[in-house]
Amino acid sequence: MLGPDYLRYKKIPLNNGSGAIPALGFGTLIPDSITTKHATKAALEAGFRELDAAERYRNEAEVGDAMQEVFKAGKIKRQEVFIATKLWNNNHRPDRVRSAFEASLEKLQLDYVDLYLIHTPFAFQPGDEQDPRDANGNVIYDEGVTLLDTWRTLEGLVDHNKCKAIGLSDVSLGQVKEIFKAARIKPAVVHVESHPYLPQWDLLDYCTQHGIVLQAFAALGHSSEPRLLEDPVIAGIAKRVGKTPAQVLLAWAIQRGTALLTTSKTPSRIKENFDVSTIPEDAMREISEGIKSRVRFNAVVETGVPGFIPGQRG
Ligand SMILES: NC(=O)c1ccc[n+]([C@@H]2O[C@H](COP(=O)([O-])OP(=O)(O)OC[C@H]3O[C@@H](n4cnc5c(N)ncnc54)[C@H](OP(=O)(O)O)[C@@H]3O)[C@@H](O)[C@H]2O)c1
Repeated sequence: MLGPDYLRYKKIPLNNGSGAIPALGFGTLIPDSITTKHATKAALEAGFRELDAAERYRNEAEVGDAMQEVFKAGKIKRQEVFIATKLWNNNHRPDRVRSAFEASLEKLQLDYVDLYLIHTPFAFQPGDEQDPRDANGNVIYDEGVTLLDTWRTLEGLVDHNKCKAIGLSDVSLGQVKEIFKAARIKPAVVHVESHPYLPQWDLLDYCTQHGIVLQAFAALGHSSEPRLLEDPVIAGIAKRVGKTPAQVLLAWAIQRGTALLTTSKTPSRIKENFDVSTIPEDAMREISEGIKSRVRFNAVVETGVPGFIPGQRG
């Protein structure tokens, strides 16, 4: 008889910082503030112990309110939750990094975060405008700062112990190698879009060999077309193993060695997404080798402008 299935509680050791990151994480890219608060609370109550926030999502305060309500209720302690947030593109200059980081901490109502990510490798014109554009509507980039300059400033945040680990997001393998080689504090996490239509095997191999956790966002395909949740391979396995397509996709991501982020506004789906258990090896192979479609849903890696933020450009 099989023993209890602990897949949903799996943690992956980090090369620096808070020890280990929960493989199954909840993202807070949720446009409306009331829903953000309800969904974040529901995720913690369902069992999620990793939350992914970002200054760009403009809802860190609501994520903070939700966490504080749960912590004050006494059921979950701050130290039991792994909390990540991200630096946005207009704050890449070293003199802006610290104040952006402090502003995130304040909104999240925290003394430290477990992980701070550079949201994208693209530096935008420094200033308070998150989406600076010229008269023709083109993004205004900042040539005066490199990704390594920004990385060095994040290393300083770790030295001051307000941020336990640091990482990169929306980067290519080449950019990861460049920062890894030059870094005093190595990236603990590389956070990129990944799912069976964009498995990023090369990046996963490099990360595994170098002790970096690859964290996959859009693990369910972000409800975009073509719908990963309706892929016949995924649907067939779900039927065979008695789980939902979402649970199959989340299990695949964890079993192949990545951490992941999924998001839902819907309480029943939040519970469903935490109720993940191990799928058989033949199902793993069928997904990894049998699905040939290749789709990138989020174009942020091309310009730095996020493709998933409703009501905002891009
Ligand atoms: N660094 C970056 O550039 C970047 C970019 C994108 C995302 N992220 C992070 O990654 C997180 C996850 O990304 P994502 O939102 O694309 O995740 P996702 O889980 O792939 O997609 C979320 C969508 O799937 C639906 N859904 C969730 N569970 C479901 C289920 N069990 N059955 C059917 N549909 C389901 C949700 O609908 P409902 O909400 O209606 O239930 C929502 O529309 C974000 O919140 C964010 O933290 C980072």
